[in-house]
This record gives sequence, structure tokens and C-alpha cells, in this order.
Amino acid sequence: MSGPTTYSLTVNGRAVEVQADDDAPLLHVLRHDLGLAGPRFGCGVGLCGACFVLLDGSPAPSCDTPMWSVIGKTVVTVEGLADGDSLHPVQQAFLDEQAAQCGFCVSGVLVSAAALLAAEPRPTEEQVAGSLDRNLCRCGVQRRMVAAVLRAATGAGPDGHSPGDES
Ligand code: FES
Ligand code: FES
Repeated sequence: MSGPTTYSLTVNGRAVEVQADDDAPLLHVLRHDLGLAGPRFGCGVGLCGACFVLLDGSPAPSCDTPMWSVIGKTVVTVEGLADGDSLHPVQQAFLDEQAAQCGFCVSGVLVSAAALLAAEPRPTEEQVAGSLDRNLCRCGVQRRMVAAVLRAATGAGPDGHSPGDES
């Protein structure tokens, strides 16, 4: 029986080395070896979105992603969205819209939203809703989440106005 493998990964812009079994879920390594508690364990089978991270820029369920499959990939968790002390626009918008209730699903939602905004900086409401399709929220605040992502896309301030908006 072979032992753990040494994996060299880039996580949140930092090169890290971890020992893990080839079939170990990325989520386990992130939470327990790297101390990144943002991605949550929900369903464990890729169906709820609570554990989503960006793998080479695309949202992916880290609970259902074995370590052997992440070799050479870049991983970004919710902790990696902010730029130093500056929140990612969608993080700020979630605060402004008070778009979280219990918060359990939010790290996965933010990751999905950040991926959408990177690909489509001015999404429609339908595109936003579609991008969050795989993120379940048992608190039922999806509408506020969609509003927050749209706010992030327009750069609207807490009063709903965009910077430089005279009206
Ligand atoms: S915990 Fe990974 S998708 Fe549900
Ligand atoms: S805010 Fe509670 S599950 Fe989404």
C-alpha cells in the first residue's frame, strides 16, 4: 500500500506543499491541512455548492475533487478573493445588501459570483441567477444575493447609486 503523495499547489496565490492521499478530497486538505475554513462541508457529493472553490478560475466542488486531479491547477478559496485589506467588490456588495442570513452557503456563492464577474463584468439578472444555480441556500435569500451581485457589477454604492452618478 502506497503512502501519501506530496502535492505542490498554488492556493490563493501562494505556493504550498501538502502531503495527502491521492483520493483525498481537496476540501479536506484546504480545511484541515491549510487551515482555510471558508469552503464548507455540506452535502459532500458535489450538489450543494457550500464547498465551491475556483479551480483555474472555474467554480468547482472541492468536496468532490480528489487531490490527484488538482495537480498543476490554481486554487482560489473565498479567502483569496480579497486584495489584501480590500474586499472583492462582490464581498462588499454582500455586506451592503445584507445578502447573507446564516452564512453557511455564502463562501461558495461568493466564489461562483466572482467567477461570473470575471467572465462577464456586466451580467444580466438571468445570468447572475444562472451562475448561482448550483449554490443552494436553505435560508432563502437568493434574491438578495442576486441583487448583491448586480450591485457589484454596477459598482453601485450603499445608496444604490454608481460612483459619478449625478441622479
Ligand atoms: S459540500 Fe461540496 S457541493 Fe456540497
Ligand atoms: S445564508 Fe443560510 S444557507 Fe444561505
